[in-house]
Amino acid sequence: MAILLPGGAGYIGSHTAVELLNKGEEIVIVDNFSNSKPEVLDKIKQITGKNFKFYELDCLDKQALEKVFKENNIEAVINFAGLKAVGESVKKPLEYYMNNIAGALTVLEVMKEYNCKKFIFSSSATVYGEPEKIPLTEDCKTGGTTNPYGTTKLFIEKILQDLYKSDNEWDICILRYFNPVGSHESGLIGEEPQGIPNNLMPYIVRVASGQLRELSVFGNDYNTPDGTGVRDYIHVVDLARGHLKALKKIEKEGKGLYIYNLGTGNGYSVLDMVRAFEKATGKKVPYKIAPRREGDIATCYADCTKANKELGWRAEKTLEDMCKDSWNYIARNVK
Ligand code: NAD
Ligand code: WQD
Repeated sequence: MAILLPGGAGYIGSHTAVELLNKGEEIVIVDNFSNSKPEVLDKIKQITGKNFKFYELDCLDKQALEKVFKENNIEAVINFAGLKAVGESVKKPLEYYMNNIAGALTVLEVMKEYNCKKFIFSSSATVYGEPEKIPLTEDCKTGGTTNPYGTTKLFIEKILQDLYKSDNEWDICILRYFNPVGSHESGLIGEEPQGIPNNLMPYIVRVASGQLRELSVFGNDYNTPDGTGVRDYIHVVDLARGHLKALKKIEKEGKGLYIYNLGTGNGYSVLDMVRAFEKATGKKVPYKIAPRREGDIATCYADCTKANKELGWRAEKTLEDMCKDSWNYIARNVK
């Protein structure tokens, strides 16, 4: 019995693959490398000393997916595959809706064909739109997403709810990630955005490494303690471990649709992050205050009580770990 990881060569998928292999699980990864590189697969093997099957395929290719299910005994799917750049999604809505929604639908269709009904989905705090309250609990209202990327997550969540309603033999777990950062302590795998990064931590590390001149802090007039945006940054290894707990939940209890926030429950501002990074790494991060970025909200952090109680999971790594490990990966891998 194997766990299938569509998008498993990506940032969060590769870290989850490591945790699954370390726990002795059998995995199969499928990926089209639209936002990752084949070398990652060797790195996963190097870290874990374990082997696994890989298929290069696009999740929209139903026949290719059917072959994977034919050749392997897939008991559950953790679907990481998706395009994730918020700004790009505004420019290329059709690509985002097609890839993310049709990709997820195709995976689900093939699962149904092969009577595999355990599905874990990479959702996002972005589905909450403008937060109804802080900290965000899973029952807060969703909707009001400000870009096609976020809307794909919202739509897929809705599709999963309808699917479960139609057939409660499905075991579905929707994981709403907050802001994943950091990398595996080995420094072998991590996040490597192509081009100029959009997200805060990848931008900070590139400023620290001298590849970019300075950080633009998008707005210092928000209603937050220092005026800059507040987010819930979570170490990717903690996040990866959350998937193992979710898997255990649907394997053991099954028959349900569960939704969990995966964050730390702490909110840090942009300037908190700059200072924490400088302290943890000894590197300088020059910055300037810039206008607000369209679509940004002031504050977003999670209440993780539900995941803690029902999954027995909580984030353990510190802000210092997040900063050190983000830096370690870039320092080792980017010339
Ligand atoms: P990533 O881009 O590093 O990984 C996604 C992987 O999916 C890549 O390897 C890419 O090549 C692959 N992929 C994309 N479309 C595919 C397709 N049609 N067929 C096969 N493979 C395909 O992104 P990530 O940060 O690891 O995110 C994983 C998931 O978590 C995504 O669905 C993302 O939307 C979601 N998520 C990410 C964040 C974040 O900040 N990183 C936050 C919330 C949710
Ligand atoms: C964090 C804070 C910015 C860059 C995005 C997606 C979300 C999820 C995670 C996938 C904000 C500020 C940033 C910079 C800055 N992804 N910032 N200068 O916007 O919370 O979430 O990634 O699901 O859907 O929207 O993360 O890292 O872009 O920004 O000042 O150069 O840093 O304004 O306050 P965000 P982020």
